Amino acid sequence: MLAVGRGQITSDGPRCARSLREQQAVGPESVPPGTAIGCGDEGISVNNKTGRQRRQPGPSRTEVEVVVESVTITDNRNGQTIEIPIVDGGIAADQWSKLLPGVWFYDPAFMATASAESAITYVDGDNGVLEYRGYPIEQLTKQSTYLEVAYLLLHGELPTADQAEKWVQEITYHTFIHENMRKRFLEGFNYDAHPMGILVSAIAALSTYYPDAKNIFDPKVRHKQIIRLIAKMPTLAAAAHRYSVGMPFVYPDNSHDFPSNFLSMVLKTPESRFDANPTLVRAMDALFILHADHEQNCSTAALRVVASSQVDPYSACAAACAALYGPLHGGANEAVIRMLSEIGCLENVPAFIRSVKEGHGRLQGFGHRVYKNYDPRAKIIRDIAYDVFDVTGKNPLLDIALGLEEVALADEYFISRKLYPNVDFYSGLIYQAMGFPVEMFPVLFAVPRVAGWVAHWVEMLEHNTKIARPRQLYVGHRRRDYVPMSSR
Ligand code: CMC
Repeated sequence: MLAVGRGQITSDGPRCARSLREQQAVGPESVPPGTAIGCGDEGISVNNKTGRQRRQPGPSRTEVEVVVESVTITDNRNGQTIEIPIVDGGIAADQWSKLLPGVWFYDPAFMATASAESAITYVDGDNGVLEYRGYPIEQLTKQSTYLEVAYLLLHGELPTADQAEKWVQEITYHTFIHENMRKRFLEGFNYDAHPMGILVSAIAALSTYYPDAKNIFDPKVRHKQIIRLIAKMPTLAAAAHRYSVGMPFVYPDNSHDFPSNFLSMVLKTPESRFDANPTLVRAMDALFILHADHEQNCSTAALRVVASSQVDPYSACAAACAALYGPLHGGANEAVIRMLSEIGCLENVPAFIRSVKEGHGRLQGFGHRVYKNYDPRAKIIRDIAYDVFDVTGKNPLLDIALGLEEVALADEYFISRKLYPNVDFYSGLIYQAMGFPVEMFPVLFAVPRVAGWVAHWVEMLEHNTKIARPRQLYVGHRRRDYVPMSSR
């Protein structure tokens, strides 16, 4: 029995349940403990490996399903008890509130709070597993394309040949940005503006070009904005880069595929057509796939919170993009390169690790809120790096990165805290070898992440239209009288 505050929680035996969302919609009273419930279209099954229940999406399932886990909470102030089933690894907060109204979970960084039910991306942080709609990331990066993955994230299934053709055609058709966006908006920035600052603002500005986007409950309008966002991100990203380094804007060339078009808009100089090296195109596309979604990360959580106000998707994606700018999130790959450059040579690695352990800064590109094992994306990116370096020549910082990884993975400080390389540890080395300045790294993260943001946007609108509004534990003064300046 676990004591929680002045109450108690106990873990208990077999019971039945609906999904948490269904429980919240109907209310806890209608699920008497011990009663088995048919789950209609979406059943509950027991995952034999983990013992955890996972909802099984798919065709109609009518069988009665039994829950294997529940918790019993006792309020020690009055002895009242409630039993709450554990479904998909969570318990419904509204049932907790039924017993304990006005008692809030204190969880400022969402360390133990599930803010959504989602069927998009599955992460098993202990075992280093990442799946989009059930497909392992390793297979997708080898066999798929970013645009196909974007379709998968949004629609839940891989496209047929016809669907894929229509999807790619639609995206390709929307790659151009309004001419005024370039002339009046982008050119208003200072000559050395950070491209991520430009991108955040440019995404928000798109809402002024497409006022119909406010009509978020019209599926056709929604679809149009999704296409626009995915299609225009590379154009905006390339424009932000070109502007920040003083180079002229390059229009999309829609005879290219998606990653080639992006590289053309970034790298083209005087030639009339720019064809990037196929190895680099493939690497870019694989990196887009790896960054396309990562369930409830900081930027996606920001997207969901902002979008819950029913604002248009451009404003919500701009908020998400701003969250991605931070050094603890999408800005970490930039921080990795700065860190490796500061370390300077392999001989300085042990001293740098010592300084991190003494609390002087962090080992950038290491550690993750969810992965307590090697981030599967980092493994794939490390392999891609070698392919890219075959074309570009080796990034001299690679040896320092490999040295850091080797020392850190053998060090008790990192072992005991389960700190492993994350997605950002090797990606910056590739971007740098491809010729991108460090300021572009978070932008390169944002370009494909928009697919995840819009997939979560649609899922959220379909599941829940309540505004996100957390509670606080107030610890400040209570009522007191105003003191005039002369008496302070
Ligand atoms: N270097 C050194 N120590 C670390 C690091 C690190 N990179 N990361 C965590 N720790 C230590 C931290 O000091 C703490 O130690 P103690 O228990 O002694 O106080 C312990 O490990 C737990 O750290 P935390 O900050 O409580 O963990 P968190 O889950 O809140 O933070 C993180 C996760 C990613 C913000 C953090 O690991 C970090 O700052 N890493 C470096 C920045 C980075 O690489 N970010 C990219 C994340 S992956 C891409 C993305 O999702 O955006």
